[in-house]
Amino acid sequence: MSQPAQHDEEVLGKAYDARLVRRMLGDIAPESRLIVLSVGLMFVVMGAQLLQPFLFKLLIDDPILRGDRRGVTLLALSYVATLVVELAARFGQLYSMELTGQNVILRLRHRVFRHLVSLDSSFFDRYAVGRLMTRVTTDIESLADLFTSGVVSLLGDSVKLLAIVGILLWLDWRLACVAFALTPVLFLLSAVLRGRIRQAYRDVRRRIARINAYLQESISGMLLVQLFRREKVSTKEFDVINSDHRDAELSSVVYESGFSAIIELVGNVAIALMLWYGGGQILKSALTLGTLVAFLEYTSRFFGPIRDLSGFYAVLQAAMASLERIFALLDERPAITSPTTASRPARSYGRIEFDGVRFAYGSGDEVLHGISLRVESGERVAIVGATGSGKTTLIKLLVRLYDVSAGAIRIDGTDIRMLPLSYLRRQVGVVLQDHFLFTGSIASNIAFGAPTLPRERIEDAARAVHASDFIRRLPGDFSAAVRERGGNFSVGQKQLLSFARALAYDPAILVLDEATSSVDTETELLIQGALGRLLAGRTSLVIAHRLSTIVGADRILVMHHGRIVEAGTHRALLQERGIYHRLYQLQFGLEAPGSGPATLASPEVAS
Ligand SMILES: Nc1ncnc2c1ncn2[C@@H]1O[C@H](COP(=O)(O)OP(=O)(O)OP(=O)(O)O)[C@@H](O)[C@H]1O
Ligand SMILES: [Mg+2]
Repeated sequence: MSQPAQHDEEVLGKAYDARLVRRMLGDIAPESRLIVLSVGLMFVVMGAQLLQPFLFKLLIDDPILRGDRRGVTLLALSYVATLVVELAARFGQLYSMELTGQNVILRLRHRVFRHLVSLDSSFFDRYAVGRLMTRVTTDIESLADLFTSGVVSLLGDSVKLLAIVGILLWLDWRLACVAFALTPVLFLLSAVLRGRIRQAYRDVRRRIARINAYLQESISGMLLVQLFRREKVSTKEFDVINSDHRDAELSSVVYESGFSAIIELVGNVAIALMLWYGGGQILKSALTLGTLVAFLEYTSRFFGPIRDLSGFYAVLQAAMASLERIFALLDERPAITSPTTASRPARSYGRIEFDGVRFAYGSGDEVLHGISLRVESGERVAIVGATGSGKTTLIKLLVRLYDVSAGAIRIDGTDIRMLPLSYLRRQVGVVLQDHFLFTGSIASNIAFGAPTLPRERIEDAARAVHASDFIRRLPGDFSAAVRERGGNFSVGQKQLLSFARALAYDPAILVLDEATSSVDTETELLIQGALGRLLAGRTSLVIAHRLSTIVGADRILVMHHGRIVEAGTHRALLQERGIYHRLYQLQFGLEAPGSGPATLASPEVAS
């Protein structure tokens, strides 16, 4: 179950990529007013912060020395005022920045989701669910970090550093030189450590992705893990990935805390140097005590931003990597789209034509080898054939989940590739082989394709497929809750609901894959009775393994290895004594009588 590492989680490119940033600007532009506000407030915060040590200097050198009580109070109050301003401005700054980040994320998530629903089946064949989930959640989240812990403070920090350097030089350039004597050590150190921190950070991300992938697969396959007693093995596999992650996290912590500690140390040594040198200067009366205090204050505000700046580097790098992956996803073009100049016909007559259709999934082997067939308006055609012979594929092509590799499919004489997608899919109602229900209510699931459908029509559809009996027994009947994927219903019940959903959609062409495979024989009989009425006036394609379902069809097609090998009515096919005849014999265990099934309580062909 261990998955191969997901290649694009490994890519951790540059910390700054102008091309990516330019593309993201489009999403940020609408927030420009908020950003300006945030930057403005950031300058207010900074001004207040830079003013405070200077107030100390004034306080010590002037009113305190002169014993001016009023002056002391005044300066102390000014100090408090700067603190209040700083507090308010900082709140506004953080809030507007966070808001910007969240707005950008909102827009980007919307765009990614809208893009996902436009992509075709072959895309989802290629992409694992876990990876797509990562795009929409974690990747977009790391862009948020860019805003919250990020860009504006980067700007703020850099400006603040420069300002402090300027102020210190202005106050006393000699003491300033002492204060900065150790900064080259810092730059050297960060140059050395940056590469290490980056590598460690990359390892952490890669291993997190592995944990996610493993979790996702284990949780969705939990039933099998337990049934096949894989708990211990799975736990052991997980432990390995888990401790790998811890190790990566630890080594990044070692570098980061080492770096922080050294910055702290350098800062303190700088302060000691200043006390030593500054103290000597004060003794010689070349420096005032206030200036020294201001220096000490400024210096302590100098090393914080340096530490933050190095942390920001990692955030920036992660954001760029995420951006790269998100844009790669957004650049996936849907292979199946509506034609640009499509006319929208009225309701379809339901005439279907497959003309020499060939098809292969992706670059795989061809699974349909030249299928030609015509279904007239209102005709009821059944398809039978062995597992894997290509029956479901035929349907997927009809509704353009995939496009044919060669040949053409026409509805009412028009190539389906020339029809608007939404029109095509409005004409064809499909009941798929795996019955999927969505979280919500019974009613919302039946009205899935027609959300405005009145309640009576929903109930009609349910009654027609004999689903209302079990629905009525549920607490809240049609409002009864449906859990994720319809987990609180039996397979047969889900099939009945899928049936009702297709009927409520009221399509011109109805396609049923494995029509009644999961319902009991009695329900099957009831549905058969209803089907005759429901299919009247519609063209229908019914795929079935139970031959009893289809004997009443106008025409039966037998598929074998991607080809239609027999076609005709039930009676004619039996007389041909070919594949269909053999299937019939196997299923009913008797010599074919050449007429409809007298006994429906028959075993299914194993498939
Ligand atoms: N998404 C896919 N990607 C690649 N190959 C696929 C895909 N879906 C189906 N196939 C292959 O196409 C062939 C035909 O599959 P299809 O689902 O049409 O069979 P079927 O006749 O409906 O079978 P069943 O009776 O079991 O439902 C199979 O060999 C299968 O392996
Ligand atoms: Mg199938």
